[in-house]
Amino acid sequence: MNNAGIVGLGMVVPDKVLTNHDLEKMVETSDEWIKTRTGIEQRRIANDDVFTSDLAAAAAEKALQDAGLKGDEVELIIVATCTPDMYSPSTACIVQHKLGAVNAAAFDVNAACSGFIYCLSIANQFISSGQYKNALVIGAETLSKVIDWKDKNTCVLFGDGAGAVVLKPVEENKGILATHLGADGSIGKHLTILGLALEPQEVEKRSSDNPRTLWMNGSEVFKFAVKIMAEASLTVLEKANKTLEDVSLIVPHQANIRIVDGAAKRLKVKNDKIYINLYKYGNTSAASIPIALCEAVEEERIKKDDLLVLVGFGGGLTWGSAVIRWAK
Ligand code: ACO
Repeated sequence: MNNAGIVGLGMVVPDKVLTNHDLEKMVETSDEWIKTRTGIEQRRIANDDVFTSDLAAAAAEKALQDAGLKGDEVELIIVATCTPDMYSPSTACIVQHKLGAVNAAAFDVNAACSGFIYCLSIANQFISSGQYKNALVIGAETLSKVIDWKDKNTCVLFGDGAGAVVLKPVEENKGILATHLGADGSIGKHLTILGLALEPQEVEKRSSDNPRTLWMNGSEVFKFAVKIMAEASLTVLEKANKTLEDVSLIVPHQANIRIVDGAAKRLKVKNDKIYINLYKYGNTSAASIPIALCEAVEEERIKKDDLLVLVGFGGGLTWGSAVIRWAK
């Protein structure tokens, strides 16, 4: 059977913009520090009554329209998120209902910022095996709801948003040519968002009254990220029997410009081969790669038959990469 390819895309970000200057009034930070240490200039924040499923469904509607697919024609919905509306039902089930996708199976995947690539890989297995004729893969987050807004180490980094893609079987040697996924739970403690198990040593790390906030050991995640982004890019290219010279554009997880620059240096790739929009949105976790893909297509940085590498890392700790021959 043929591989899955992306045949429709959509994205949304909340209207509310939070700039570095706004953050200067909230914590002891500066626009200069945030820009030079992360590359981020602003991020989008969802209103109190807007949740991950709202952003996910809005992005999905755009992707379905782009693909010319109706809600009830969708066969599979997978949502990548680490900020679900509820533990149950899954965000994917809430989205399924919002879209009227009555014929779709639906489930969530939590691989934090690597989640979108995990979901692409899963959907590709379902499509290339012939089980489903199409799939809707969504990366969506409202990280602003789990941020400790008094913690300058983390509150400057993240933002909200959603990106969605529709996958269908495409011509031979096109679409998703290879994926590579990995995880190392032994270092998961470097990036946590607490749920039911409020372990005292985890609660202690948080200064907030709300223990269910994000905590991160930024420098450990940073070192891991630079190394794994380079390694995961090379591993997936090898799987696809391609080299970096064949690649038109790398679309990395948009976490920190210094992480991307560090990985690019290791790969000896010039910056113009790497798509960056993190200055506008910050780190939107599972949403960052599909949002970047959408904007890269809009800006005509991606054209039919281009070879792309998508690569991400995140909580878990996890990582994932994909090689795609663009078929749209
Ligand atoms: N403003 C001003 N100063 C700050 C801020 C801030 N917002 N944040 C930290 N600092 C200070 C620290 O307190 C520290 O001060 P000290 O030296 O007096 O103790 C100093 O800056 C340096 O701190 P470092 O942690 O060494 O700063 P670094 O250059 O490593 O940058 C950062 C920190 C941006 C968090 C970086 O480590 C990073 O990007 N890490 C990776 C984060 C990431 O991308 N995570 C992605 C996964 S997210 C997910 O999966 C949901």
